[in-house]
Amino acid sequence: KSEKVWLTISFGMIMLFMIATGYQAFALGMAPPGGMETIDPQRVDQIAPFDNPGITKIGEKEYEVVMTLQLFSFTPMNVEVPAGSTVHFRLTSKDVVHGFQIVNTNVNGMIMPGYITDITQTFHEPGEYLVLCNEYCGVGHQFMATTITVK
Ligand code: CUA
Repeated sequence: KSEKVWLTISFGMIMLFMIATGYQAFALGMAPPGGMETIDPQRVDQIAPFDNPGITKIGEKEYEVVMTLQLFSFTPMNVEVPAGSTVHFRLTSKDVVHGFQIVNTNVNGMIMPGYITDITQTFHEPGEYLVLCNEYCGVGHQFMATTITVK
């Protein structure tokens, strides 16, 4: 009889353990990484500011760039700012995980569908900065690039 009791108890323990780990995985999976803002990736085109991607001057040598990443491009392409500008990028993906790496800077972000990533960078040196997707995103991945021109 006591065997049955122990079996019931251990079965109960296993169930509790499974529920606890399952819940933990669920909670972790649902929590935005680092408290990032979320966005419905299916409706990016209809949600401000991504309904109107582009560059906006917001101060003296200060710009905001609202950008979407999608297979296999950046919108807008070929952003241009004066030297010494601080640029606040607001980024999201419309489909899969992409990368946002600005060559010769420390900027290297992972842009995930469903999340908004904010990156700020000051461009002191004039030049043509290459922007690359550095997360494998499919057959056109190697062609996913654009530039930021600082003059
Ligand atoms: Cu987008 Cu690789």
